[in-house]
Order: sequence, then C-alpha cells, then structure tokens
Amino acid sequence: MNVQELNIIASAMVAPGRGILAMDESHPTCNKRFESLGIATTEEMRQAYRDMLVTAPGLSDYIGGAILFDETIRQKTLEGVPFAEYLRKNGIIPGIKVDAGAKVLAGHEDEKVTEGLDGLRERFAEYYELGARFSKWRAVITIGEKIPSWACIEANAHALARYALLSQEAGIVPIVEPEVLMDGDHSIERCYEVTELAQRITFQQLKNQGVALEGMILKPSMVISGASAKNRADIQTVAEQTIKCLMASVPVSVPGVAFLSGGQSDEEASAHLNAMNVMGVKLPWALTFSYGRALQQTAMKTWMGETANVEKAQNALLWRAKCNGSAALGKYTEAMEKQAA
Ligand code: 13P
Repeated sequence: MNVQELNIIASAMVAPGRGILAMDESHPTCNKRFESLGIATTEEMRQAYRDMLVTAPGLSDYIGGAILFDETIRQKTLEGVPFAEYLRKNGIIPGIKVDAGAKVLAGHEDEKVTEGLDGLRERFAEYYELGARFSKWRAVITIGEKIPSWACIEANAHALARYALLSQEAGIVPIVEPEVLMDGDHSIERCYEVTELAQRITFQQLKNQGVALEGMILKPSMVISGASAKNRADIQTVAEQTIKCLMASVPVSVPGVAFLSGGQSDEEASAHLNAMNVMGVKLPWALTFSYGRALQQTAMKTWMGETANVEKAQNALLWRAKCNGSAALGKYTEAMEKQAA
C-alpha cells in the first residue's frame, strides 16, 4: 500500500472550495427518482442524465471527485468518451460505489447491514483498470425505539473497515460512510449520541484492521433533528453539535470529512456546511460536501429527460455546486440564493 499516493488523491478530492458529487445511485434508487418525475427508466436515459451532469462546463471549479455507479463507469458520454476518462481529463477524480446495498440484519428486523465484501478484491482490480481512484461504501444506521443495537453498529463498522483496507490495497482511496438516517422524530441530542458512537466504533474498527487514516475520507451525516421531529434544531446548533461530534471521534490524520445531504433541502445543506466553516474552530481536516440529492434534485427536475433542457439543468447543478463550494470555504450567504431566484 502506498499511503503517500492515497493521501495525495484524498487531499485533491477535498481541495479548498471543492467537494464530491455523489452520482452513484443504484438502479432502484435512480429509477425511483426518474419515475416520480415521469422520466423513462431505461439505461439510455440514465446515460443521458449522467452525461448532462458530467459535461456541465466548469464543474471542476467546485467538484474534485465524482462517485459513479457500476453501470456508469462502464458507459460513455453521449460523445463516446468513457465517463471515467472524461472526468479525469476535466480535472475531476472518478470514484466508484462498491457496496451491494444495505440488507436486513439477521435477528434485527428493523436494522440493516451493508453487504458486498465477497469478491471485492477482484472487483477493485477491475475498477482500478476502469479508472476509479476512490470508492464508497455506505452503512445505514436507523434511530428508533431501542435501536440502533450494538450488533448493528459493530457489524457495519467491521464491514466498513474490511472494505476500506481492500480499497487501499488496490490503490483506491476509500470513502467510509456510516450514515445515521434522518428518518424519524428523534431529537438532535439523540442523533448526537448515536452518531458519535457510530463514528467512534467505526474508527476503532478501521484501526483494528490497519486502515491508513491518511488515505481515506470520512463521509458522515450531520448531527441534526429527525426529519419529522417537532422544534427541529436551528442551523447554528446543527453546526455546533456536528463539529463537537467530529472533534470527539475523528482522528486528526484523516485528510477530509465530506458530508452526505441525507434528505436536507438544497439550502439547508449549504447553510449547515457554511455554518461549520465559519465557526472559527481550527479543524484538523478539510470539511466539505459529498452530496447526492442536494446537488442533483433541482437539476433532475429541470432536465425531465429532455435534451432541450440540458443547459438549464446544468446551470442548476453548477449553481448548487457553487453554493456548496462557497460553503466549504465559509463564504456562502443567503443572499446568494436570492440572487439565483
Ligand atoms: P445524499 O446527499 O442524497 O444523502 O447522497 C449522498 C450519498 O452518496 C449517500 O450514499
């Protein structure tokens, strides 16, 4: 394992003012989003959609890496350039989602464990050949009555660590994603408790397996009230609790922390990230975004599967990328949103 090389890639993915575009929706997730807008759920449409995203002019001003799905890394842009090659030539590092999804955890019917370790070494070798230089594995932790269980947190952390080491062994930077879901009416205090524990146990497992922390990125969820909670915590509180949680659990040798958006609105996701970056706390890691929905949802609704809408949709994507790139520098303002409107 060449830790220095992994560190160079990881640092480039989260360079100042840049974040990661998560465009690695699996078929079921992508199709669900297409269906809700009446877009045909075909391979050609998924290709056309991802082409619209990837070829947005100047995307690399704000985006350092793009996470692809297995189908996409094997596809080409509409002009016939493999997506991974197109990204690389345009200054964006191509990455790949490698987990096989979250499945019900045996003995714990309300909880999930992420699968996909079987044959992963061989898959990594192929993905490297296809151009991937970083990867992603998402673990899902649900907050509810009496959950998460210790079994769920430990099983997911263990799988994340085994995945991360296989990734590094292949020369591919792992994005380690222990997502605590926003679903539910839990308080921000409860979210803090669960998120800190999940992150702490994840780093313990990463250490046990021998993962080089200098050569990875953490993709956490923010510490936030449940989506259906009453009196949801405000932006400042989310920022403070999230920073407190990261400081308590993330070692300083990790080069970057890149949040998922998890169902937050576009504006919330930008405002929360910005609030953390203007707090005045000196942070040991870059603090940026790896958003899926908060970068794409407006663009997808603008596109609607029509070639005629491509330019407008690209502008919508670029706008969210710019807002979040600014938030990563602590330079995002509400006035920017008004300007866009
Ligand atoms: P969201 O930002 O839509 O939560 O997606 C990020 C992601 O990659 C989840 O794995």
